[in-house]
Amino acid sequence: MPASSLETIVSLCKRRGFVFPSSSVYGGLGSTWDYGPLGVELKNNVKRAWWRSVVHERDDMEGLDAAILMNRLVWKYSGHEATFSDPMMDCRACKARPRADHVFVAQKGRDPKGLVEINAAIAAKELTCPKCGSKDLTEARPFNLMFRTSVGPVDTGDESGLVYLRPETAQGIFVNFGNVLDTMRRKLPFGIAQVGKAFRNEITPGNFTFRTREFEQMEIEYFVRPGEDEAAHEMWIAERKKWYLDLGIRAENLRVREQEKHELAHYAKRCVDLEYLFPMGWSELEGIANRTDFDLKAHSRSPENPDAVGELHYFDQEQKKHYVPYVIEPSAGADRGTLAFLCDAYEDSLVKEPPAADTAKLRELVESFARSVGRREGMDADVKQRLQAAAESIATGLPATLPTLIGLMDDAEASKIEVMKKVRGVGEKIAEEHTRTVLHLHPRLAPLAVAVFPLKRNEPRLVELARSIKRDLQRVGLRAVYDDTGAIGKLYRRQDEIGTPWCITVDFQSLEDKTVTVRDRDSMQQERAPLGEIGSTLLARLR
Ligand code: GAP
Repeated sequence: MPASSLETIVSLCKRRGFVFPSSSVYGGLGSTWDYGPLGVELKNNVKRAWWRSVVHERDDMEGLDAAILMNRLVWKYSGHEATFSDPMMDCRACKARPRADHVFVAQKGRDPKGLVEINAAIAAKELTCPKCGSKDLTEARPFNLMFRTSVGPVDTGDESGLVYLRPETAQGIFVNFGNVLDTMRRKLPFGIAQVGKAFRNEITPGNFTFRTREFEQMEIEYFVRPGEDEAAHEMWIAERKKWYLDLGIRAENLRVREQEKHELAHYAKRCVDLEYLFPMGWSELEGIANRTDFDLKAHSRSPENPDAVGELHYFDQEQKKHYVPYVIEPSAGADRGTLAFLCDAYEDSLVKEPPAADTAKLRELVESFARSVGRREGMDADVKQRLQAAAESIATGLPATLPTLIGLMDDAEASKIEVMKKVRGVGEKIAEEHTRTVLHLHPRLAPLAVAVFPLKRNEPRLVELARSIKRDLQRVGLRAVYDDTGAIGKLYRRQDEIGTPWCITVDFQSLEDKTVTVRDRDSMQQERAPLGEIGSTLLARLR
């Protein structure tokens, strides 16, 4: 079964060291996450695969790593100070704070003509709160999404030291256009790629790492002759879609969606979203926009911009003239991409039926848990409903729902109910022995490439050989680990759950003929292979 809910993925991520809630020792910071030992490997592999595809495997791209803090004027002339905001309104009845433009479109079936029309509709009681249906709404106000901080040792109280944490990496590329053009002697078309952190004071962060206030972007600005922009746009839509598919995203879970006029950012002539079918529904993975010549013009000296020191234009040798290039911008999220790869790779199944008595005992405990949740006082109604619904559906479907029970057993809210301890006492053992969870990650993305086990951990010759194989694999550049902390079947299961594509077992035959078994995660087939060839074989499969 693929992941049916984001909770399943969150639970796996926490249990196996992919992603932890941030600053948890102080109760956390809402919607902020830390990538753990396996998560950082996975996300680094996603970023590396992106860089390889858009920089190293192309002849028309350069890389860049610009600073997060930039001169405030960058954000003034990019338009972000004035327009990078969401119009928000408050519901006086239920205290919800929805986006006013989204409510307008959903309820009136067309785009609003600016804030004035939205506020006229609110005043005329034509809009209702999407959460509770009340018409008692405040006026919509623009809420700027940029985080502010100040540079220098003294807080002067005015805005002289004001800087922003960049809300997109793109502007760092635009203001370096001239530097890259001159130093790398580039001709159009060419692009600049950058990976880095971006910050937005999102009003409604959520859905795990899908929408956070601190995230990483993988952005390209691809500069072309005006008139050649539309063909370049199509080229990048196809390229970027292919990248996800080549790395294993299932075609039925990826779609291209044309943004509607009211969705377009202030700089965009056209924008196409690559969307992924996350457990919460189709959502944006990457935007591919035609930003025209908006940004390079905005940062060039002109009557509208007397602060810029020069002009960001291009001299076309063939046409013997200066002009401002157009820009195509494929802008992806490293965190969203990583989450999509995780969701797509996830599969759990029941591998064998547990004894009927064990199932009956577990069902009884899960039903008792559902009843305790029902009686619990002071628990948020949404949480209560979620836990009860999950427990009831698990109890009805056992033993097939054992994989889902693993998620419930990891749920922080569920742990507050006393009877969950008993559920865990029985459930963990049954789940461990009867279910299999696999991450079918593309080998290039998997946090570990290979795990090496000795058949017996109390047999020094097997241990020594297994350790030396692991060292050799590390030396050829493979992320390899050694493990002897359980029976082989259990070790395989652990590696499947974190997506390790290959496991090597060293047995007594290995001591005699220098061969080992290599087990493939997806087919579960085991092959004997000569020791001398393993490193090169696995490296070739990673290519
Ligand atoms: N330079 C263009 C730009 O920033 P965007 O659509 O706002 O465009 C591009 O962002 C990508 O960055 C999104 O498709 C998404 O993958 C990622 N992203 C944006 N906001 C995010 C957030 N709050 N949390 C996680 N990822 C985000």
